[in-house]
Amino acid sequence: YVLGVDLGTSAVKVSAVDRNGNIVAQESFDYELSNPKPGYSEQNPEDWVSATTVSIVRLILNDGIKPEEIEGISYSGQMHGLVLLDENKQVLRPAILWNDTRTTKQREEILDVMGDEFIDITRNQPLEGFTLPKILWVKENEPNIFAKAKTFLLPKDYLRYRMTGEIAMEYSDAAGTVLLDVAKKEWSKTVADKFGIPLDMCPPLIESIGFAGNISESYSLFAGLTQDTKVFGGAADNAAGAVGSGILAPNMVMASIGTSGVVLKYDDNADVDYKGKLHFFNHAIPDKFYTMGVTLAAGYSLSWLKKTFGPTDDFTDFVSSAAESKVGANGLVFTPYIVGERTPYADADIRGSFIGIDGTDTRSDFVRAVLEGIIYSFADIMDIFDENGQDFDTVVSIGGGSKSPLWLQIQADIFDKKVVSLENEQGPGMGAAMLAAVGLGWFDTVQDCAAEFVHFGKVYTPNAENVEKYKAMHKIYKQVYPATADITH
Ligand code: XUL
Repeated sequence: YVLGVDLGTSAVKVSAVDRNGNIVAQESFDYELSNPKPGYSEQNPEDWVSATTVSIVRLILNDGIKPEEIEGISYSGQMHGLVLLDENKQVLRPAILWNDTRTTKQREEILDVMGDEFIDITRNQPLEGFTLPKILWVKENEPNIFAKAKTFLLPKDYLRYRMTGEIAMEYSDAAGTVLLDVAKKEWSKTVADKFGIPLDMCPPLIESIGFAGNISESYSLFAGLTQDTKVFGGAADNAAGAVGSGILAPNMVMASIGTSGVVLKYDDNADVDYKGKLHFFNHAIPDKFYTMGVTLAAGYSLSWLKKTFGPTDDFTDFVSSAAESKVGANGLVFTPYIVGERTPYADADIRGSFIGIDGTDTRSDFVRAVLEGIIYSFADIMDIFDENGQDFDTVVSIGGGSKSPLWLQIQADIFDKKVVSLENEQGPGMGAAMLAAVGLGWFDTVQDCAAEFVHFGKVYTPNAENVEKYKAMHKIYKQVYPATADITH
């Protein structure tokens, strides 16, 4: 077996996967998120280690997975979280997580000091959530802690360190620190020097499928694993999710609807420069990349609508009721900016709209307008691919959007692309397990592993008549942002 450890924001989920790509057992354990002040989001790194250990022990004791049968382990991790270690590799303060927004000042400073040069090197905007602004926050606000800090790690890299005793970071997560020269795959001395960060604070870099070490003696005693088990780099959750969804060729895009939504495209090289309009990170496959845009309120828009207008409905029935409406929701357009929007506007203050309400509109029209509005927002991200000459033909839909045949068809018609779902969607933990499978040599490449482990379901093809109707509606949708940008809530 291989274990895929999915270290999320609210829980860790550990999956044991066999050589045929079947999940034979799965265990999960929650941990706390602490918000000591508004905008602060922290976690105790020790909780990640305990929760992972409990999950592994349960796999062994409750599910009958024999330690000597666990050949390899790899990871999917919540991105960007800052873990600071002192010279004895002890944690110096709680981890500051990806969804912590205390760093607006630092974000602005970075742009003031470096401007476009920063984006040229790191290929990303320095968003509040990313790691460098967090390091600068600690430097400015907790100088005594910064003075003691000798190394920084990201969440799953810290967990890997505790399991192997080896300090390392892998490229897909390192890219999200915005201290990495993404195209050159090395820490940027220019960026580190500009902000007074000693380059030796940045850990050694390895590949996602790269060998990181064996299970250490102390961790083997702690979790009941054997020291023969090999541990591999792993990946950022979005990269691992892309691996588990087979986004491993330039024609493939992933559309993922969770609370927020992600549109992610595979890139063969770093030639295309989106000038920071989209996130551009290293993929979990050596020397490959991916581009990503985010819709802040995707599934959240739908759960808001249901909570507000159909609180007692069954979720599936609520979504299916959109079938009673028509393509284009009877002229009703929804923009899903109810908590602001990330891509393409990077505007935390914009709010959502319903436009074109008719006296005959029913609740079904509103449900349909929300399903469509979320997809127009995704299509806005795809339009940036298009403007930069990046073509693709297949969208793999995962998460909430893949559960409804109606919504899958809406996606095919709005994207004007083939849309497929996964037969047995397993999330980023499966991608993590695949990285261990390739690291162990079960397969030569991640693509070879995906050919065995990832199975696509039914293909939804665009309907030409609907495509035309949606093109007209999407034009109207695009006019709503500039017309409402001044509305404050
Ligand atoms: C990506 C991001 C999130 C976290 C969630 O930039 O911040 O996807 O990785 O775990």
